[in-house]
Formats: sequence, structure tokens, C-alpha cells
Amino acid sequence: MTLPSTTSDRAPCTTPDRAPCTTVNGVGGYLPERIVTNDELASRIDTSDAWIRERTGITQRHIASPHETATFMGEQAARRALDAAGVGPDAVDAIIVGTSTPDQGFPATAVAIQGALGVTRGFAFDLSAACSGFVYGVSIADAMIRAGQCHGVLVIGTEVYSRILNWQDRGTCVLFGDGAGAVFLRANTEHADRGIISTHIHADGRYGDILYIDGATGQTAKPQHLVMNGREVFRHAVGKLAGAVDEALAANHLTHNDIDWLVPHQANLRIIDAMGKRLNLRPEQVVITVDRHANTSAASIPLALDEAVRDGRIQPGHLILIEALGGGLTWGSALIRF
Ligand code: COA
Repeated sequence: MTLPSTTSDRAPCTTPDRAPCTTVNGVGGYLPERIVTNDELASRIDTSDAWIRERTGITQRHIASPHETATFMGEQAARRALDAAGVGPDAVDAIIVGTSTPDQGFPATAVAIQGALGVTRGFAFDLSAACSGFVYGVSIADAMIRAGQCHGVLVIGTEVYSRILNWQDRGTCVLFGDGAGAVFLRANTEHADRGIISTHIHADGRYGDILYIDGATGQTAKPQHLVMNGREVFRHAVGKLAGAVDEALAANHLTHNDIDWLVPHQANLRIIDAMGKRLNLRPEQVVITVDRHANTSAASIPLALDEAVRDGRIQPGHLILIEALGGGLTWGSALIRF
């Protein structure tokens, strides 16, 4: 028997007699004020600017101050996304937050952000998919909008990895940064040519031991630190992300020539370059923030989208491919017509 896959293959968007599709109506981001350069790290641990740049493309990262929590940063990004969409919090009836660094076990960060925004209707929840959290969130929001369960959804990625890094482990602490990004998604019954075209999400728990947070709520007195086998993650990232981008194109009978922008998860410039080459894109068609933000996990794609929309690179009508891989392993892609 052939089971339905996690892939949602659909005809692009809507006609008046079909269910609504989902458009991206606003994008926002927030980065902590404090910037930590590679040289500053090299003054504290045995590393160098040259090593970090050469292996990852990273030159600096933003690091949160005590008041810059996942909730605080997520709220700022959400407000900017709503402003960009030209709507107020009353347009929101669902909030989905991808985060691996919530302020507390519960209430969920999404509910805390809902409260901070003054939204009192609809629903809000966090999802745990590590660096794929934003792609997962977009996929779930799109499915719920198409099902008529909500109409105006904030999908937020907000992360303070600085609080779960082992700052003595040079193999991981140089790679990550803090920040938040958000999109405001809306049910759309008017513009048949715009919106989320398809999403494709995956997980494979066999690889849970190559990228994880050690310790958790309920495991007594164990500090929580990110642990990673960098080489293994790199190997899986290149193979699985290649599969995810091919899958997105094939599901919609598109080719790389149709793509205007690749907005990838920002983990490592070498992985991003490999994806750009696979899609035969010109380097300037790939949105890159990893050099200045490092890896902000679930926040990295909406932060990159925010930058490219605000500086005018991404224009209405452009076709965007997003993709991410994270601990789990989890991974996925989505095609969106802006
Ligand atoms: N500065 C200087 N040297 C470092 C270092 C640092 N920050 N971190 C590791 N090294 C050293 C290692 O100790 C090792 O030294 P040795 O040969 O004397 O033992 C050497 O550099 C090579 O280490 P290795 O881990 O094999 O390097 P690498 O080429 O695989 O690069 C990563 C390391 C982490 C940059 C790379 O594996 C990577 O990008 N992986 C994917 C990570 C990722 O994307 N994670 C997030 C997914 S969401």
C-alpha cells in the first residue's frame, strides 16, 4: 500500500471554489545589539578568525543580553512582521514558534508572545524541530490555513543558542548566534498566482546522536549543552538538502531556471554554496547572512528573508525556495511565490 507522504503536492494556490492558499504578507527580524567577532572569541578560546572563516564563512554573531530572551526577541520580530503586513495584532489567530531555547518548559514561547502582543483569540504553540523549526512551522501553518482552521498566522523562529553552548567547546561555540525572525501568513482567496506552493518535511530519528542538546527538563542537574558531530552533520546536510530541493522542484514540475532566490538555513557557507551549485543558481541569487549572523537555528531563514525583502532583492512575484536541516535529524523545503 502506498501511504500518503509528508510532502504536500498541490496545484499552485487557489481558485474561487477551492480552499484558500497561504500568502506571506509580512516579514520581520530582530538581532541582539551585542556583536561578538571571531577575534573576540579567539581571545578566549583556542581558535582563530582564519579557521572560522575558512571552514564556515562566519565572521561575527549577535549574542543576546539577559533581557533578550526567546520571547522578547520573538515578540520584536513578530511586531515588525505585522507592521510590514500593515496589520495589527488583531489580525492574528494563530502563533507557531520554532525554538530549541524556550524561556521555560511551559507556558510555550508562542503563548508568551501571544500575551505580549495582546492577542486573546485563536491558539499558540511551540514546535521542536531544531534548525528546521521555521520550515516545519510554515508547513503546519499552510496546512491549517488551507483547512480553514485559522486565517492569520505568525510563524516565528526565535533562538538564544548562546545559553546552551559549551563555551569551552571550540568545535561548536564558534558556529552559532542569537536572533529571531517572523512571517505573517494569511489565507488568500484572491491572488491565484501568489503564495506557498508546496512544503516537504522529513525526520529520521536514527541520527539523533549526531546533533542534540545534552540534558533536558526532567533529567536532574544535567547542564544543557549543544553536542555535535560536525563531520557527520555536514555529510547528511549536503545529501538530505539536495534531496529536499529536488523534491520541491519535481513536485511542481519546475526546474532550477524557475527559481529566483534560494533562502537557505544559514549553518555553513560551504553547505549553502553546495546547494546553490546544485540548483545551478548564480551566487547572487542565494541570500546569505551566515557571515554576519552565524547559525541562528530556527530564526535563520526568516532573518534572511527579512533582509532580502527589506533591501528590495525579493520582489512580489518572485519564486523563493527555502530549505533547512537540523537536529533529529529533521529537514525540509518549501516553495513560495511572494
Ligand atoms: N578553531 C580551530 N580549530 C578547530 C576549531 C576551531 N573553532 N574547531 C575544531 N577545530 C580543529 C579540530 O580540533 C581538529 O583538529 P585536529 O585535526 O588537530 O583534531 C580540526 O580543527 C578539524 O576538525 P573537524 O571537526 O574535522 O573540522 P571540519 O573540517 O569538519 O569542520 C565544522 C568543522 C564544524 C566547521 C564542519 O564539520 C561543519 O560545518 N559541519 C556542519 C555543522 C553544521 O552545519 N551544524 C549545524 C547544522 S543545523
